[in-house]
Amino acid sequence: MADETIYEHLQRQGLSRQDLLELCERLAAAMVPPGAPPETWPGTPHEVAQAIECRPRLPVIYLDFQDCAGNGEAFTMSRARTVADMLLNRMALGYYELLSAASGWRLEQYKREIIERYPGQYAVIVEGSIPAGADGAYCTIGGRSAADLLKDAARSAAVVIAYGNCAAFGGIPRAAPNPTGALSVSDLLPDATVVNVAGCPAIPEVLTGTLAHLIVFGELPGLDHLKRPEAFYGHSIHKQCARRGFFDTGQFAKSFDDEGARQGYCLFELGCRGPITHNVCATLKWGQGLSYPIQSGHPCLGCSEPQFWDDGGFYKEQKVPERRREAVPAGGAP
Ligand code: SF4
Ligand code: F3S
Repeated sequence: MADETIYEHLQRQGLSRQDLLELCERLAAAMVPPGAPPETWPGTPHEVAQAIECRPRLPVIYLDFQDCAGNGEAFTMSRARTVADMLLNRMALGYYELLSAASGWRLEQYKREIIERYPGQYAVIVEGSIPAGADGAYCTIGGRSAADLLKDAARSAAVVIAYGNCAAFGGIPRAAPNPTGALSVSDLLPDATVVNVAGCPAIPEVLTGTLAHLIVFGELPGLDHLKRPEAFYGHSIHKQCARRGFFDTGQFAKSFDDEGARQGYCLFELGCRGPITHNVCATLKWGQGLSYPIQSGHPCLGCSEPQFWDDGGFYKEQKVPERRREAVPAGGAP
């Protein structure tokens, strides 16, 4: 029943006015990283309430192709679930192999109904890369290749959200020598409206925030040059890193178990790619806001950037030259 407005749907679900206001507050907060000043929020809770009184529900098709399923796992296990429940379960997540009760031809039929009944009004979320090698035989569902399924679903979608590095940039399946000919969503659909929610896995709250913006305002949030939502990818990890003080004073861990590592020194010389990586890990964090790779003692791998695996993977030795600050690679925005 994606024809009714969000407000009508919530009323039918038995939500009180108080519940609705609470939802609006959560939606408004979900559209920005924690700590973002109110003047940078795209809408106040009151404006969100006004918007969802007339906005139709957003039908969503979630496709899972060539990856480890880590993004879906992160999403279903995260604290974003409470908002995601509001957004998806109470709204219109029409097709998702992982969560849908139906399977087989019934589920495929339901996806077809969404495509034909809501042209230009539904969103497609894609997890995983799309193999182009061997005529797409490396990843097929119901006898159809991933490329065929994605082109079909995306043809009349309002937006395609590439969720995770594999969908956004090809990820690990695309790393050299790329045996399956893996492509990103944008490679396969150069003319489609694509949003890259990048990461390995991507932070679930970033997907939730992107969907919240789309659902509430009926338009995409601002994107950067790699089609990532600016609100979440506007700063480098380095800029917000708790170890930044050690970088500035030239204190670097030389190995993973030396005294510097124990003191929490900067991990640049152990391969940290925080200066050239744009993501919101340092403030949103993982595990209910508990930690993120650098806080846990591991350098950033650059997992929200293109070609991160070929550019270093788990470890790439790098030295800080004499003039430390100027030495930060281009794009680092220290
Ligand atoms: Fe943090 Fe890495 Fe920058 Fe060091 S190089 S301050 S560990 S982001
Ligand atoms: Fe990925 Fe670096 Fe964050 S490895 S999870 S972008 S700290």
